[in-house]
Amino acid sequence: MKILFIGDVVGSPGRDMITEYLPKLKEKYKPNLTIINGENAAAGKGITEKIYKQFLQAGAHVITMGNHTWDKKEIFEFIDQAPAMIRPANFPENNPGKGITYTNINGKEAAVINLQGRTFLPPIDDPFEKADQLVEEAKKRTKTVFVDFHGEATSEKQAIGWYLDGRVTAVVGTHTHTQTADERILPGGTAYISDVGMTGPYDAILGVEKESVIKRFQTSLPVRFEIEKKGRTQLNGVFISTDDSTGKALSIARIIINDDHPFFA
Ligand SMILES: [Fe+2]
Repeated sequence: MKILFIGDVVGSPGRDMITEYLPKLKEKYKPNLTIINGENAAAGKGITEKIYKQFLQAGAHVITMGNHTWDKKEIFEFIDQAPAMIRPANFPENNPGKGITYTNINGKEAAVINLQGRTFLPPIDDPFEKADQLVEEAKKRTKTVFVDFHGEATSEKQAIGWYLDGRVTAVVGTHTHTQTADERILPGGTAYISDVGMTGPYDAILGVEKESVIKRFQTSLPVRFEIEKKGRTQLNGVFISTDDSTGKALSIARIIINDDHPFFA
């Protein structure tokens, strides 16, 4: 199986990059499964139903979320009617939505799981325990199990990667918005990267207007963060190829599109 994953789409600049480049990436990589992290898609905080549908229209099969899942109030109205959307599975049991979904594209079935870390993020249930439970459930249906681990600490991301090595096809990190260069296949056959990076403003700080972030660091005063709407944009992702018979990853490659790394078809 070929899996394309696009890192955290931030605001309208990120959505514009999806519209422009997702069809080109699908043409180039011909993925059987395309996943977008959309938790920052609506002005940096949350997602709307319109954007969810726009991503599916652009060619995504699954939308993953994270700590901003509930920021747009309308999510409570549509998440339970959004089969392709998953939010971190280790949110409290009584939360709306779900943390695992299955895709079947041309007979190739895959499970996609979303989990969130607990280091430097709000307290939630144990992601390791939830991973054990969901991986066991998923393995009853398919050998191909993909995990988006939304976390702040690289150490926690590496810990879940090693913990799941040999049991899942891939563990990719999201949330910190800066692509890490540590992509690898772990010894048990699990593709791993600490963070896929983000899709959206390029001349900005993690997608936010740089002036306001600099001011915050200089003054320690509360500053309103706005998504950078001007300037250049970027797209970050990974492409993973797998062996359907074993569910193990064969390769993982980073995708970077920006003015310093132009797209080649
Ligand atoms: Fe996040």
